[in-house]
Amino acid sequence: MTRASADRWEDGAAIQTVELTRRFGSFVAVERVSLRVRRGEVFGLLGPNGAGKTTLIRMLCGLLSPSAGSAFVAGLDVARAGEAVRRRIGYMSQRFSLYPDLTVEENLTFYGGVYGIRGKPLRTRLEEVLAELALGPFRESLARDLPLGYKQRLALGCAMLHEPPILFLDEPTSGVDPRARRSFWDLIHRKAEAGTTLVVTTHYMEEAEYCHRIAIMDSGKVIALGSPTRLKEEHGCESIQQVFLKLLRGDGGSTWQTPRSPSGESGVLGS
Ligand SMILES: Nc1ncnc2c1ncn2[C@@H]1O[C@H](COP(=O)(O)OP(=O)(O)O)[C@@H](O)[C@H]1O
Ligand SMILES: [Mg+2]
Repeated sequence: MTRASADRWEDGAAIQTVELTRRFGSFVAVERVSLRVRRGEVFGLLGPNGAGKTTLIRMLCGLLSPSAGSAFVAGLDVARAGEAVRRRIGYMSQRFSLYPDLTVEENLTFYGGVYGIRGKPLRTRLEEVLAELALGPFRESLARDLPLGYKQRLALGCAMLHEPPILFLDEPTSGVDPRARRSFWDLIHRKAEAGTTLVVTTHYMEEAEYCHRIAIMDSGKVIALGSPTRLKEEHGCESIQQVFLKLLRGDGGSTWQTPRSPSGESGVLGS
């Protein structure tokens, strides 16, 4: 991206960042990240723990101010219009903010209130969300009693209750079994097909294949950006996992570990 185009809001873009940077003291958590996410795109942010994924998302949600650079989300400058940005986006944080002692329906009702949806519109929207996420049978269940895969769906339901055009999902599939992960990605794709833009972080490398485009982050920097197909072609690899390994060997200074997990799960970035 050139500097000239960088300062303009580009048509078709849901999100646009230019050299977006966040420091904590002298530590640089996100370093000069420039990217553009199109409307209706499923955009993946991949990288090991500490790569800067959550910090980047929190800036895009208007929850954390950038130290340098700029970010536009839904046409708004996050540094100037954080509050307005938050009304136009849904954010599912890494630690789902559900109320364990409330039922599924009560959790959704609470989040409806946060966004000013009440009365009949809320009741209508509640039924839509319960149907879309197949949560109907659990409506009276306490959130704490739900299987993790359904907690994750409820957290998504709370984030999308106010029908935001852009959704940020931070590690939504973390710790969930492969079948539930697969069905969650089906939900993500259905939302994208209906026009929602989704930014999803994950440390499961095979999930890169579910994204239209991905940015691979390491130590605060984007080290690869493109569609999974293009990145595989570019690096002459058969899988994104191989691309990771190649990048790992290539830059010497990487903090990535060999992808494996104590549970024997393959394709998980070291953490
Ligand atoms: N509020 C904070 N104060 C100091 N350091 C932070 C803060 N938030 C995040 N960091 C640091 O920034 C780096 C990136 O963190 P994070 O964005 O959470 O990475 P990821 O989501 O990719 O695991 C980490 O080294 C983390 O310790
Ligand atoms: Mg994180």
